[in-house]
Amino acid sequence: MKKGYFITFEGGDGAGKSTQINILKDELTAAGYDVILTREPGGTQISEKIREIILDPANGEMDDMTEAFLYAAARAQIVSELIKPALGEGKVVICDRFVDSSIAYQGFGRGLGDAIGVINTYAVDGCMPDVTILLRLDPEKGSSRIADREHDRIEQASDAFHRKVYEGYLKLEELYPDRIVGIDASGTINEIAEEISIRVKEMMNRG
Ligand code: TYD
Repeated sequence: MKKGYFITFEGGDGAGKSTQINILKDELTAAGYDVILTREPGGTQISEKIREIILDPANGEMDDMTEAFLYAAARAQIVSELIKPALGEGKVVICDRFVDSSIAYQGFGRGLGDAIGVINTYAVDGCMPDVTILLRLDPEKGSSRIADREHDRIEQASDAFHRKVYEGYLKLEELYPDRIVGIDASGTINEIAEEISIRVKEMMNRG
């Protein structure tokens, strides 16, 4: 039986996930929780190797379905090797991206639709987040925030692609209001952190 608590963060590129994840981790650790921080694609040795293949800008010829299966493969590994065991030990797991990223990027962005939900049913194997924080930021603002860093293969995709991803996230928020908490990510770091803290505590107390 699962005893821990599973939190995921989602949002477009440049929405500020990493900053907020670290703030929440520190807060929950200070409150006495045993917190594990991980990320997707990655988090285990095998998944990090898969990540390198997926994000390598040299792999421009990668088929969209190959991409979707690689994300799902990396996910199957992190779920079985890291997330399920940690939750079983009563830990709080915070994961930077999870299955909603595949629905938004591969399902909506690449246009692969329902196939993504189907293949990910096997990858996730019943282990869904208790709460998902969706940092909502207009994709144009997101891409201007990351303009001066080196872009991976996904970040290099067109503005139209990132717009579809954003719309996909909004759709997911509408479909799963009990799990997905949308937060306006255009404010200051402190304002966003405060709202995340309030909403996560609410969700954790809900049990
Ligand atoms: P990430 O390391 O979170 O990048 P960033 O820090 O820029 O948000 O994720 C790498 C990229 O992979 C990111 O552009 C989103 C994409 N991605 C998918 O397309 N599908 C997925 O299932 C996941 C987990 C990520």
